[in-house]
Amino acid sequence: MEDKSPADWDPRAQEVLDDQIKAYDGMRKRCPVAYSDYLQWSLFRHEDVMRALTDHDTFSNAASRHLSVPNAMDPPEHTPYRHIVEKYFTAEHVREFEPMCRANTASLFDDLPQDSDVEVMNALGQPFAVRNQCAFMGWPDSLREPLRRWIGKNHQATRAGDRHAMAKIALEFDGYISEQLIARREAGEAAPADATTRLLQEKIEGRWLSDEEIVSIIRNWTVGELGTIAASVGILTHYLAKHSELQEALRQGRENLPDAIDEILRIHAPLISNRRVTTQPVTIGDREVPAGERISLIWASANRDEDVFGDPDEFQPQRNRDNNLLYGAGLHVCPGEPLARLELEVFMETLLAKTRHIEMAPDATPERAQFPASGFASLPVMIQRD
Ligand code: HEM
Repeated sequence: MEDKSPADWDPRAQEVLDDQIKAYDGMRKRCPVAYSDYLQWSLFRHEDVMRALTDHDTFSNAASRHLSVPNAMDPPEHTPYRHIVEKYFTAEHVREFEPMCRANTASLFDDLPQDSDVEVMNALGQPFAVRNQCAFMGWPDSLREPLRRWIGKNHQATRAGDRHAMAKIALEFDGYISEQLIARREAGEAAPADATTRLLQEKIEGRWLSDEEIVSIIRNWTVGELGTIAASVGILTHYLAKHSELQEALRQGRENLPDAIDEILRIHAPLISNRRVTTQPVTIGDREVPAGERISLIWASANRDEDVFGDPDEFQPQRNRDNNLLYGAGLHVCPGEPLARLELEVFMETLLAKTRHIEMAPDATPERAQFPASGFASLPVMIQRD
């Protein structure tokens, strides 16, 4: 067994939290397979992350002690749950949701002040994600604020590694969702025809999904939406504010928008990492990793690996498209991708249509989000509207 001390790095050191992307770039060069007390093993290289994504026998997803449907499951258990989840994100469902998504987004921009500084995360990122999540699931507007606060608390407890707080926060989420389930059961035939009601009608191997399973499925979706989509909105807005040529080009023609979104989110990942656990001893790079060890796949580094992408900051949508791991790969590849793509395209189209110009606010500095969140905690931007 390898001697694991001292640790190779501290994922919660202040300089890592202050600028995660820069810190992970450094780790990829200095120690691409790194041990820490907090995360155990972190993989920074594209090649190593791809290996973990495709060698399901050695890298298991059963890395959580709590029920997490479907992300912390391996086949054959994962397969039927995954089939259920995929049904909710078909092209048809996403198309049905589009008008509501467009209306939600337009109203956010209509509420912005004229020609003044805007704190993007507060005014756009979080409300955009939370409104769309409530609309997609059929939840009342009264849930928006509690959910927005919940995701912040969830990130804080994860960063602190505070298991007690994490369990309490999970229970708080269960409470919000259980209320929605109970209301629909009581309504019977009169229950709204929305995604939450449909989940109550799902069967797995001949039996109804339990409430615990439904809540867990919804928690997975909610974290995808509130954490990752909100972060994406900040990252995309920041990139346009910093790159006025690209901003102008996209204002002239929107046909390159989908590729541009993927490439910006490759350069600056909205999702930092996901976990695996080793099922047997394995050599990764020059490190011997024992069985039963936790592994973090650092998307925010793998997608910037020089061996695959050359200069990681060079904006090259066509060249980099095929290796971009934004939505993952393998059995657990993001099932919410069609919804995420729709929402981010609608966000960018609306941003470009409803503004004349955006740039960084002259007298304010953005504050980066800290692990496990990505993007920005606060992003002051000057938005000029017609
Ligand atoms: C820009 C937005 C998003 C990004 C970048 C993203 C990225 C990812 C990635 C990289 C994975 C693979 C995780 C792994 O291998 O362990 C994943 C899984 C997943 N994502 Fe997303 N996601 C986004 C939005 C969403 C949304 C909006 C939803 C649902 C509403 C969602 C639901 C899920 C679920 C349920 C899984 C687990 C799938 C499984 O384990 O089989 N994601 N996502």
